[in-house]
Amino acid sequence: MLREAFPLIRASSPALLERLCRGRGLELWPQFISGPEEEALLRDVEPGLYRKHYQRDHWDQAIHGYREMEKSRWSVQSESILQRLRDVAFPPGVPQLSMVHVLDLEKTGFIKAHVDSVKFCGDTIAGLCLLSGCVMRLLSEDNDVDQVDLLLQQHTAYILRGEARYRFSHQVLPDEESFFGGEKVPRERRISIICRNLPHEPGSELD
Ligand code: OGA
Ligand code: MN
Repeated sequence: MLREAFPLIRASSPALLERLCRGRGLELWPQFISGPEEEALLRDVEPGLYRKHYQRDHWDQAIHGYREMEKSRWSVQSESILQRLRDVAFPPGVPQLSMVHVLDLEKTGFIKAHVDSVKFCGDTIAGLCLLSGCVMRLLSEDNDVDQVDLLLQQHTAYILRGEARYRFSHQVLPDEESFFGGEKVPRERRISIICRNLPHEPGSELD
C-alpha cells in the first residue's frame, strides 16, 4: 500500500512521514473502488442528498458549501464496498458507528482545519472519495512546521488514526488553493463517505 501511496503524500519532513505512516496512522488506498462501485454508492446516496440544500452561510462552521446525511441502509453492493473499507480500517470487534456519514461538497465547497470531536468519534476515520480529487491538508496541533498534504484522487480510500487523527487537524482545500506540489488539483463536486468508530468509553477498560 504505502510504496505506491508515497507520491500522493507530501510531508514537511521525511521523519514526519515515517512517523505518521508507521503503525498505520495514515493510510492511502488509491483506486480502492472501481467506477461501477462508485456508481453503486452514488445511486444509494443521491436521492437523499437531492432533498437537501447546500449550506453556505454559516461562516463560523468548519464546512462550507455542503449537504450531508447519516445513512444506515445500503444496497447489497454498497454494503460490501463499505465492509471492505471497514475491514482495512478497523480491527475485528471494534465498535463502530452504524450510521455512515455522507458529505457532499459543491465545487466551491471546502472544509476548514478541524479535529473530529473526540466525544462522537473514536480513534479511526476512514473515508472514500467520490466524483472529484482534492487536497487534504494535515496541520500539527503542537507546532507550526509539521504539515502533510494528501492527494486524494477520485476512488481513493484514506484512513486517519492515532497521531494523524488526534494531534493533526485536517482540511479539504477550496478550489483556488487546491494545489499538490505546485500542480493544480481541480475541485469538482465531491462526495465523501466516512466510517468512524465509537469513542473509547472511560471505565470500560482497566485504566
Ligand atoms: C468531516 C471531514 C473529510 C472528507 O466531515 O469531518 O473531515 O473527506 N470530512 O470529506
Ligand atoms: Mn473531519
